[in-house]
Amino acid sequence: MTEIQPLEAVPNPLQSQPDFAVPTELESALDQVITHYPQKRSASLMLLHAIQERYGFVSEQAVHWVAGKLDLQPIHLLELVTFYPMFHRRPVGKWHLKVCRTLSCALAGSYGIHRHFCETLGLDAHAHGPQTTKDGKFTVEFVECLAACGTAPVLMCNETLHEQVTEEKARQILGGCA
Ligand code: FES
Repeated sequence: MTEIQPLEAVPNPLQSQPDFAVPTELESALDQVITHYPQKRSASLMLLHAIQERYGFVSEQAVHWVAGKLDLQPIHLLELVTFYPMFHRRPVGKWHLKVCRTLSCALAGSYGIHRHFCETLGLDAHAHGPQTTKDGKFTVEFVECLAACGTAPVLMCNETLHEQVTEEKARQILGGCA
């Protein structure tokens, strides 16, 4: 009879944050947000955004905490955090460079800009997913269409959109990140 091999555990996509705790003032503000919706569940995205704004990312413990607040199962929050790319599953650098790699930007040179950032910052241009420098200052990643295809290639540095980015402009953007 064939021996059944134990299944390998699926890695948790969220970083653990054992010291996660929500201060009273934030919890009260979030309780208030929940009252704005006819069903608690509808406040899911708002709560996740508020958590990310406070802690910089959404951890495993944060997902459990929000699930408890909204009377949901953690999987209901996990599916949102892993679907929407604006949620960070682990801490990101002070400067977050998101380079669009969808068709218009790819054709206009976004891969070269991404490579320029990676080479300048000592990151691997071929690695999958976001990469952060050891000093925690920069995170570089490819993202999908940023809805500015007419001015490709585009990228975002934190919340600022940069259009028609040349390698020279990319150098200036990096230089402006103090
Ligand atoms: S393809 Fe890059 S913004 Fe749309």
